[in-house]
Amino acid sequence: MKTRPIALDVNGHRHTLDLPPETPLLYILRNDLGLNGPKFGCGLGECGACAVLIDKRAVRACTISAAAAEGRAIVTLEGLGTADRLHPVQQAFIEEQAAQCGYCLNGMIIATTALLLRDTRPDDAAVRAALSRHLCRCGTHVEILAAVRRAGELMAALPSSTIAEKAS
Ligand code: FES
Ligand code: FES
Repeated sequence: MKTRPIALDVNGHRHTLDLPPETPLLYILRNDLGLNGPKFGCGLGECGACAVLIDKRAVRACTISAAAAEGRAIVTLEGLGTADRLHPVQQAFIEEQAAQCGYCLNGMIIATTALLLRDTRPDDAAVRAALSRHLCRCGTHVEILAAVRRAGELMAALPSSTIAEKAS
């Protein structure tokens, strides 16, 4: 396969890698950049486990090529917050104990973040629509919905400049 240098802006850092342009972004994040927040679930765009923010929208990293992601602002779970300084969505998922095995959580947190960046007070229909194509095999849905509501409260309490900073 032919390669070319591709510049990816991930969590505020530019990485230039020599790659086949059609390489799925998920493979690059996990295998080349060591970012294992995005999970490999189905590899087919069906489960949502691999989601990342691209230009503040939730995108399935298994279905977008390196070329399509080039030059855009990519944020992974690792770029949202740290153990010492959690993102409000991460904080809310911990407060509501919204995890069992945790495999779906990357996608749930990324999709929730994308939703709340647009609207910190989404109604239930909007929350369900944002998360509807994210699969949780453990059945943690009730706690996840509570976490989204709590995350909205935490995000709404932040100054708007801080919210913008949370996804850049
Ligand atoms: S691994 Fe990407 S949607 Fe399932
Ligand atoms: S907590 Fe296990 S898949 Fe959702």
